[in-house]
Amino acid sequence: MEIRLMNLRRNYGSLHAVDDVSLVIPSNTVYGIIGRSGAGKSTLVRLISMLEKPDSGEVYYNEKRVDNLSKEGLIEERRRIGMIFQTFNLFSSRNAEENIAYPMEICHMDKAYIHKRTEELLELVGLEGRGKAPISTLSGGQKQRVAIARALATKPSILFCDEATSALDPQTTRSILALIKEIQKKMNLTVVMITHQMEVVRDACDRVAVLDSGHIVEEGLVSDIFSSPKSDVTKEFLSSLTNVQESIVRWSKEGGHYTLRFRGNSTDEPIISSVSFSTGAVFNIRAAGVQVVNGEEMGVMMADIGPDEETARKAAAMLREKGVLVEEEKKEAR
Ligand SMILES: Nc1ncnc2c1ncn2[C@@H]1O[C@H](COP(=O)(O)OP(=O)(O)O)[C@@H](O)[C@H]1O
Ligand SMILES: [Mg+2]
Repeated sequence: MEIRLMNLRRNYGSLHAVDDVSLVIPSNTVYGIIGRSGAGKSTLVRLISMLEKPDSGEVYYNEKRVDNLSKEGLIEERRRIGMIFQTFNLFSSRNAEENIAYPMEICHMDKAYIHKRTEELLELVGLEGRGKAPISTLSGGQKQRVAIARALATKPSILFCDEATSALDPQTTRSILALIKEIQKKMNLTVVMITHQMEVVRDACDRVAVLDSGHIVEEGLVSDIFSSPKSDVTKEFLSSLTNVQESIVRWSKEGGHYTLRFRGNSTDEPIISSVSFSTGAVFNIRAAGVQVVNGEEMGVMMADIGPDEETARKAAAMLREKGVLVEEEKKEAR
């Protein structure tokens, strides 16, 4: 299902939590919304999922307007939505399968069907045989798997994930993201992935919108945004990512003032040599490696550029012209 947002606004007193947001979230995709804490992500999700009404603006599911529905209409449309959260929000008094059965019970579905569907869902999320497990005995990753199964019980068209992996370690995060991607394809879902972690966008999302102070500051294909980010907020998110990149080999602890990123399609050209030749710049490479951004390979290189600042600036400008993303480390961070 395609989701379309038109000029959404939501104020809390004088605070513009969501400030004129217009977006198209295509069907059958994993769509990321990234922003710092307080950027307005959760508020935006509450508006898109009809938990809260906007002060102005419109929300469409396919061609149907859903922000102004009556109570009955709202209940009907909300069946098309599943949600998962950072805190899992499971019932601790119910075991795994009773949690998964819950949304089907409140729709008064047939007992035999509920049983069959619960077994199916346990298998889908990799928890076959664990239905009777009390929630307290499950790991964080397993709890999120139960929450995913419960969210999908009534076969929704949209899955909202609000910081769904923020409480999990990196390895568990990767396994949950892989599961969400797999389920998205299997069920042709529209997944809206809310996060403050660029790793989540890199590993799971097809497109991303960057939210800052209630505004969308940048939107596009994840591979485009990683290779040529425009806003400072996006660049900041990206720089936090390079610091934790495990696939980058650093052979010198010192330096690496410039970070260069090369997209797959430009990596065959002798870019460094030709820039060096035309500008006289010398490159001292301190670290390099390959990042995989949603399936697309991107070369990353950290280097110092000399012999002087002016030549370095010329070289950086020429690299940018050739489609390389060049970031200069801030002086105060050194
Ligand atoms: N119900 C509310 N009442 C008043 N202020 C709110 C409410 N919900 C959120 N806010 C404020 O709106 C801003 C955006 O919050 P939120 O959407 O939760 O951001 P995020 O999820 O990106 O961290 C914050 O400044 C927050 O304090
Ligand atoms: Mg939030």
